[in-house]
Amino acid sequence: MASSTRSLRIGVVGYGHLGQFLVEKILSEGPEVGLELAFVWNRNPDKFKGVVAEEFVLQDLSSFAERRSDVIVEVCHPHIVKEFGVRFLSKSHFMVGSPSALSDSALNQNLREAAQRYNKTLYVPSGALWGGQDIQRLSDSGALKGLFIRMSKHPSCFRLTKDVLSDWSEGEGRRVLFRGSVAELCPVAPNNVNTMAAAAVAAGALGFNGVQGEIVSDTELGDYHVVEVEVTGPDGFTVHTVRRNPAKLGAVTGSATYKSFWNSLLVCKGHGGRVYLC
Ligand SMILES: NC(=O)c1ccc[n+]([C@@H]2O[C@H](COP(=O)([O-])OP(=O)(O)OC[C@H]3O[C@@H](n4cnc5c(N)ncnc54)[C@H](O)[C@@H]3O)[C@@H](O)[C@H]2O)c1
Repeated sequence: MASSTRSLRIGVVGYGHLGQFLVEKILSEGPEVGLELAFVWNRNPDKFKGVVAEEFVLQDLSSFAERRSDVIVEVCHPHIVKEFGVRFLSKSHFMVGSPSALSDSALNQNLREAAQRYNKTLYVPSGALWGGQDIQRLSDSGALKGLFIRMSKHPSCFRLTKDVLSDWSEGEGRRVLFRGSVAELCPVAPNNVNTMAAAAVAAGALGFNGVQGEIVSDTELGDYHVVEVEVTGPDGFTVHTVRRNPAKLGAVTGSATYKSFWNSLLVCKGHGGRVYLC
């Protein structure tokens, strides 16, 4: 953990929607909240021209350690988590922006072990998940019996690896695309189910195979995504939340999720060698 007298150095991996948002925030508001930019990396560095000062641009991700980051944030692709996650944790705390990568049980195990071995924290941002820490507490106390998450969006907001939505038409209404365990859902919609993956991390006792999910296409949802969470505990205990997340047509990520990512990053100050939902 860094001393409170200096800023935390943040490395940002990926410069798409979330990466650009975070870099801009760190550069503009970082000094007020004790953060500074250590580096930003993107597979196509042309994207930085005229936008990000050269001193911050990392050309080769393999040399990330030279930038001495306190926290590395991945906002790129699950492949990068697989390739670099353990290496990142050997030097820095690591916030995994694509937690659907953790549905790979071997990778999940490797990252947890690396966090312990190097005494670094693997942070999982809660994204659009409501009540993640309550779910985690219930799970840790052994009282979590079931967890179900339904994500409903306009069809233009889905990025699926299976061809089950190419024939949608405006006005068709609601269509259940897939229902199953989060472990089964992550490979089908890796960019759409990060919130479910965060829930599966919170519900450690059930895990990716025990948490159930459903993705629904709904042409009525032109202005927002809907995330429903149903928690079941002992003796008839239940909680049902419905979150409406404003989102532009075609957007994978709801607008409130950007703010949520920033708030998550502010939590990443070092919580020991473990996984921490933030
Ligand atoms: N945790 C959450 O709640 C949550 C919410 C939104 C997005 N996400 C995830 O965060 C990541 C970034 O989201 P975004 O909205 O900024 O996406 P984006 O598509 O706008 O940006 C992704 C960036 O990563 C790069 N990239 C894509 N595939 C790559 C690969 N295989 N290797 C190297 N670079 C690659 C792209 O060129 C782009 O610069 C995605 O994986 C997305 O699924 C998570």
